[in-house]
Amino acid sequence: MCGIVGYVGSSNSLGVLLGGLRRLEYRGYDSAGIAIIDPAGALHTRKRAGKLQILIDDLETTPIASGLTGIGHTRWATHGGPNDENAHPHLGDDGKLALIHNGIIENFAELKRELLESHPDTVFTSETDTEVAAILVGLEYRRTGDLAEAFRHVVARLHGAFTLLALHKDEPGVVVGARRNSPLVIGLGNGENFLGSDVAAFVEHTRRAMEIGQDQIVTIRADSVTVTDFDGVPAHGKEYEVLWDASAAEKGGWSSFMAKEISEEPDAIAKTLLGRVVDGAVHLEELEPLADALAEIDRIVILGCGTAAYSGMLAKYAIEKWTRIPVDVELSHEFRYRDPILNARTLVLSVSQSGETMDTLMAVKYAVANGARTLSICNTQGATIPRESDAVIYTHAGPEVAVASTKAFVAQVAAFYLFGLHLAATRGTLSASEITGLLDELQALPAQLEEVLEQHDAIKQLAGWMTDTRAVLFLGRHAGYPVALEGALKLKELAYIHAEGFAAGELKHGPIALIEAGQPVFVVVPSPRGENSLHPKVISNIQEIRARGARILAIAEKGDASVLPYADVVIPIPLASTLFEPLLAVAPLQIFAMELAAAKGLDVDQPRNLAKSVTVE
Ligand code: AGP
Repeated sequence: MCGIVGYVGSSNSLGVLLGGLRRLEYRGYDSAGIAIIDPAGALHTRKRAGKLQILIDDLETTPIASGLTGIGHTRWATHGGPNDENAHPHLGDDGKLALIHNGIIENFAELKRELLESHPDTVFTSETDTEVAAILVGLEYRRTGDLAEAFRHVVARLHGAFTLLALHKDEPGVVVGARRNSPLVIGLGNGENFLGSDVAAFVEHTRRAMEIGQDQIVTIRADSVTVTDFDGVPAHGKEYEVLWDASAAEKGGWSSFMAKEISEEPDAIAKTLLGRVVDGAVHLEELEPLADALAEIDRIVILGCGTAAYSGMLAKYAIEKWTRIPVDVELSHEFRYRDPILNARTLVLSVSQSGETMDTLMAVKYAVANGARTLSICNTQGATIPRESDAVIYTHAGPEVAVASTKAFVAQVAAFYLFGLHLAATRGTLSASEITGLLDELQALPAQLEEVLEQHDAIKQLAGWMTDTRAVLFLGRHAGYPVALEGALKLKELAYIHAEGFAAGELKHGPIALIEAGQPVFVVVPSPRGENSLHPKVISNIQEIRARGARILAIAEKGDASVLPYADVVIPIPLASTLFEPLLAVAPLQIFAMELAAAKGLDVDQPRNLAKSVTVE
């Protein structure tokens, strides 16, 4: 999950590279570096541990030569700690080639041993797998005199997932890239061309993009783009228009990207629904490739990681209820190693904001290889996971830059719900009027969520009182349980506070031993309305822990007076039915985690040890 950018054109590449890295920094921020070929054909590199700003400051203090060809990298450390030596770019042994890398080269140790046997004088200056690739490509370049050809010889020997970019001083005006199970996209300009881990790298310069397929090599020049497979056979990527502009990926005056993106949640739902509800019915033409298969499926397996997995857990309640098809939710990284039972009647439904999460990508590829049909829900156009799936339902939340996923979560649930209602309609498990009623509830969510967000300041104040909190528990039941898990994850990844989500009914089976005087516990309280409401049971759970000293912070429906006697704090949310209330209850927990992190002086957008898209297994 590093950020990668490449450029060849008529502008000073330094500005293009740093601007691209700024937009990609959410992918990893342990170190940053650039390599530029100047007009005289000299190769210049600069790299620094730490965030991009450290590199920028260094370049201001000690300028680097300008040039029209360059590559840039912002790193999330895998092999080798985050220091200057391990920062990218890495050089070939003669110093004429610079290379950057996203992913893991699993057989790098073996390749390193072979290199030292064949070239005993080779000197490694880092602990990285990347440097091994740089030296190999440099050696091959000396043999072939052609950078793309040198790439072809090397990538065939690499195992694992990788995106590689390189330039060579003897080929000014050329940047070559290669990808396997790791993101890389082309930006098509006028008299200039770009490469990036995602379109954020170049969207301020061009919104014309082109996909690069699996096991392909791309060569960009100022006036040409050439794509081949690893054997050199020409290939043609699909061109597309990026749907959002550079300003969408800017903070726009907000204190953080996360705050901006939480504020965009109503819009994220509305845009995901836009054009997909017509005359009270669901309209998902992107499911056409799966039309026949969906009539036959007898099981759905939802795959995801982290927040995406929790959106799937919430969707399970709705899809099972509406379609009567069994739905399992599995963590991607567990799924493919447990020898799951799959066949053509199984629909593997992956969910991923980035569409590049390696754990989920590999699980989807496993599902395809084992005969299942596949559908992905994704927020990133042209990402790898949708490309590996039979069909994709894109969420339209816009770019999500903050590492902590927020608006993507609610957009994912909206997309899941559309899919579930589509399936219920095609299988006749819900009547047209029932579907229309549920779609009305779905379409009411943006306005209701706006109402919840109006409580931001009150939640901020609550967070300010709790900066010394050392552990927080989150309880939910039924569709509220995934919200409890998501609330706990937000607090862990943002405020570095131990937090745990529980199914409320599980507490008495052990975890209640954790309760001691003053222990803060958030409780997602279901609506008291409806004959099967679990409200009474959750109130009982609250009484059990309150009796043992817990401090109750309840998220409950406006007007729910029955919770007042037992809660120290009540965060009211608008009235919504059981399957829709969680989409309103999650926002206060996201805001709380963000504001508590901010009150502790932590970096809300780029929490320690994390990256936005985990593109390594
Ligand atoms: C969520 O806040 C985390 N950043 C993380 O759990 C994330 O949801 C997970 O890595 C999945 O990412 P994806 O949606 O891009 O696949």
